[in-house]
Amino acid sequence: MVVQSITGVKPGVDGASRLAARGVTVEYGARTVLDELDVTVPPGVVTTIIGPNGCGKSTLLRTLSRLLKPAGGRVVLDGEDIATLRTRDVAKKLGLLPQAPVAPEGLTVSDLVTRGRHPHQSWLRQWSSDDADVVARALAMTGVSDLADRPVDSLSGGQRQRVWISMTLAQGTDLLLLDEPTTYLDLAHAIDVLDLVDDLHESGCTVVMVLHDLNLATRYSDNLVVMRDGAILAQGHPRDVITAELLHEAFGLRAKVIDDPVGDRPLIVPIGRAHVELGRFEPELQ
Ligand SMILES: Nc1ncnc2c1ncn2[C@@H]1O[C@H](COP(=O)(O)OP(=O)(O)OP(=O)(O)O)[C@@H](O)[C@H]1O
Ligand SMILES: [Mg+2]
Repeated sequence: MVVQSITGVKPGVDGASRLAARGVTVEYGARTVLDELDVTVPPGVVTTIIGPNGCGKSTLLRTLSRLLKPAGGRVVLDGEDIATLRTRDVAKKLGLLPQAPVAPEGLTVSDLVTRGRHPHQSWLRQWSSDDADVVARALAMTGVSDLADRPVDSLSGGQRQRVWISMTLAQGTDLLLLDEPTTYLDLAHAIDVLDLVDDLHESGCTVVMVLHDLNLATRYSDNLVVMRDGAILAQGHPRDVITAELLHEAFGLRAKVIDDPVGDRPLIVPIGRAHVELGRFEPELQ
């Protein structure tokens, strides 16, 4: 699939990072949720953040996209402090799919996806046929063209999720932040979306996503960021990062890590209580 034409992507800025958190602290009221955290998003790479519920993944993504203002530290986008950039300029560089977006009541799919083009409109630059083409391609890429005239709030959870991804793509940025893009999707549609992420990556996009499925995270990313309690436990290539010890430390999960028979990555096989009782649990992992 040719993705280049929709995003107008250019390869990521040369150098160490497209986006980085430097000593970022985020607080909700009196509670510190991210504590002096450092993360580097390398250009042209798929980075996936994994970690248990409530550890701060969405908070980190929202901070990286400037939706949340850190109490300490800074976020650097293409070499500039993101706090100094105008909202419209951030939106032209970076597209965010939030975790649980809500569309205004009655808004149709095509209207929602069209909103992705808003950062590109101004009184100098009105809506054009190019914008219409980008919207049509964004709808097609996530397989929701048939739903264009339906109100978003009349769709199933999975259809809705693909419509929101479509809106994020219509923004035409070469840096995408996707918070749980496969939520609500059946496995086949989840693979479709992750193959699309792979295509975007091949065309030069930088992608940061949050996934809960550890095996999909491992298979579809070259850089994993493992979080626990608002801190980074490990960061690097899945082959270097994923071990039974790390999974236990991050999630309290007992698992066996084996070679993926399909890909060239580790495969995580979780071990439940019943399997421990059956004696199928490796003694060194207990
Ligand atoms: N608006 C808010 N006000 C107060 N606390 C919040 C707010 N948003 C998140 N939190 C808290 O901050 C912590 C981190 O939340 P966050 O949404 O970043 O977690 P997460 O890792 O994305 O979890 P999940 O996997 O469930 O999506 C949690 O303890 C959560 O309850
Ligand atoms: Mg979250």
